[in-house]
Amino acid sequence: MLEKDIKKILVTEEEISERIKSLGQAITEDYAGKEPLVICILKGAAFFMTDLVRYMDLKVDIDFMDVDSYGDAFETSGDVKIVKDLSTSVANRDVIIVEDIIDTGTTLHYLVDLLKYRQANSIKIVTLLDKPDRRRFGLTPDYIGLEVPNEFVVGYGLDYLQRYRNLPYIGVLKEEIYKENLS
Ligand code: IMP
Ligand code: MG
Repeated sequence: MLEKDIKKILVTEEEISERIKSLGQAITEDYAGKEPLVICILKGAAFFMTDLVRYMDLKVDIDFMDVDSYGDAFETSGDVKIVKDLSTSVANRDVIIVEDIIDTGTTLHYLVDLLKYRQANSIKIVTLLDKPDRRRFGLTPDYIGLEVPNEFVVGYGLDYLQRYRNLPYIGVLKEEIYKENLS
């Protein structure tokens, strides 16, 4: 039913799970002996985070934060608002921020500053997808699942108007879906 709205699949379910497995292994090695605090940026990264931590052979805490930086469905407004804050203190913690996709970098630029101010011991970023073309801040993720072209993508957590997050793969919507909402 959802599939009929998809123009093409960019990343298959198998590719996603292979990448997550190797990201989890890399993080496991890098954080050996540490007990990182994994922060999931809602809602998009929830799918990725829960899969990723299963490949991290470490004692981890998880927490959630919901931030809103989007003026409309496609483009960041530049303003970042905390919709839901953490329930864990980040002070002296080794923090791993888990994000679904980094586009301009506005959201994470703001978050990294905030967590530094709250005195995290270290902060690293892991993103499933990276769209480096549109980066506005000199923000470089520490771990990247896959680079994607500058196209709007949905699935595996990523939404268009809150829909399509539950697709098991990452794809591009047909143009008519956007047109329906513009008219
Ligand atoms: P940034 O602040 O411009 O880096 O935007 C990051 C946020 O924008 C992500 O957390 C996503 O929620 C959203 N976003 C950026 N590109 C896409 C996309 O192609 N599909 C769905 N959401 C996106
Ligand atoms: Mg997001």
